[in-house]
Amino acid sequence: MDQQYDFGMVGLGVMGRNLLLNVADHGFKAIGFDKDPVKTADFEKAATAGTIVKGVNTLEEMVNQLATPRRIMILVPAGKPVDDVIESLLPLVDKGDIIIDGGNTYYTDTLRRYQYLAPKGIHFIGIGVSGGEEGARFGPSMMPGGDITAWEHLKPILQSIAAKVNGEPCVDYMGNGAAGHFVKMVHNGIEYAIMQLICEIYDILRRGAGKNNEELHQLFSSWNEAELKSYLIEITADIFSMKDPETGNHLVDMILDKAGSKGTGKWTSQIAMNMGVAIPTIDMAVTMRNLSALKSQRVEADKIHGDKQAGITSDPSEMLNAGTLENDCRGALYTAIIMSYVQGMAMLHTASTELEMQIPLHNAVKVWRGGCIIRSTLLETFYEAYLRNPQIPNLLLDETLAKLVTDNIHALRRVVSQAALNGFPAGALMNALTYYDAYTTGRLPLNLLQAQRDYFGAHTYERTDKEGKYHTQWT
Ligand code: 6PG
Repeated sequence: MDQQYDFGMVGLGVMGRNLLLNVADHGFKAIGFDKDPVKTADFEKAATAGTIVKGVNTLEEMVNQLATPRRIMILVPAGKPVDDVIESLLPLVDKGDIIIDGGNTYYTDTLRRYQYLAPKGIHFIGIGVSGGEEGARFGPSMMPGGDITAWEHLKPILQSIAAKVNGEPCVDYMGNGAAGHFVKMVHNGIEYAIMQLICEIYDILRRGAGKNNEELHQLFSSWNEAELKSYLIEITADIFSMKDPETGNHLVDMILDKAGSKGTGKWTSQIAMNMGVAIPTIDMAVTMRNLSALKSQRVEADKIHGDKQAGITSDPSEMLNAGTLENDCRGALYTAIIMSYVQGMAMLHTASTELEMQIPLHNAVKVWRGGCIIRSTLLETFYEAYLRNPQIPNLLLDETLAKLVTDNIHALRRVVSQAALNGFPAGALMNALTYYDAYTTGRLPLNLLQAQRDYFGAHTYERTDKEGKYHTQWT
């Protein structure tokens, strides 16, 4: 009789293979399908001694050897490949089986697939998986949403393979429908923002203050010992010390300044815009990747517009009571990173009601504390804030967090003004500051904008002293 496997994986690429090896390491019998026999062989070879794994080259072989209800995860590129796999699985699976999409899928695709499979009696669940290759192998952060029955069936496996923080697994239920993929998308938007903020600080310190890579390595390593402690700061410190084997130069200096993307950051911005939610730091991170692509135009414009950078000083005496530039950069990065999480979480708060996802926000920050790309010590602070007040619409309304921000915001102001005065593109830092200043200003000048709208278009306005809509004959 065939071995009854506990968990099946479709697609043994980097993520699929590592996640399935992780499943096997936790005592579950794991079977993986890939059309490529090299990949199935590599998968079997990489397994830990004593674990039960099998690689097969037809879907039938995999499906037939799974215990029911079957648990089948798809980890193939998002989009049509996922639909193709679902179509191939349909004749093979039975009512009650569970199909999981673990990719970075656009959330409406997940809803569509859920609605397609539910009447057929198939449980379909979208799970955001973060942590890259290493995370998949040794403990990712996972964001399942939608079919609650499927989640209950998957819970024992997912909890055992997830990263752990304070003994708690970094996986939990994210809410209705496509909430899992939605939360993962916002995670990626925050990831874009933090990466861009780090790049802007790097630019100010490297090109502006003339710090070399070794000094930057030291600085980022020391930042990673305190309140900025996080995965992205840690890998940035590592990157500065890596040498290029071909030239002997620092590798980071040899890398072309043109950023790639797979689109999840752009989706976050587009959907936030559709929902009317402000996430300007994430928007700017997407924009900067777009600007980075214009390499040849930028080089030409650089020549025409001359040397606009005056050079940012690292001499404290020239900083007008500003503390050292390094310290200001640390405080600026800290507050701007907080603003990135704040914006992402405010977006989830709105999605929770407007898209009827009912996202337990404390679960999102809880599972991000370990295993994922945006893990940082700050997540613990946010987690506590949501435990205190689960319905808080914006984390800036939490007094503990407000104190962290008000203690550091002046560093962000100084760094932003230095960047602006010296011609350094620091849009994500600037947008973080603008978001903060706008959100914490009781009266914005948009009363005037309402007057303008009413003037030229009779769009009406509300008044400060009484209820209702008003129109004025302005001329
Ligand atoms: C993760 C990452 C992962 C992937 C990004 C890269 O959480 O493990 O977010 O999903 O590395 O999607 O995105 P870009 O290619 O768009 O930068």
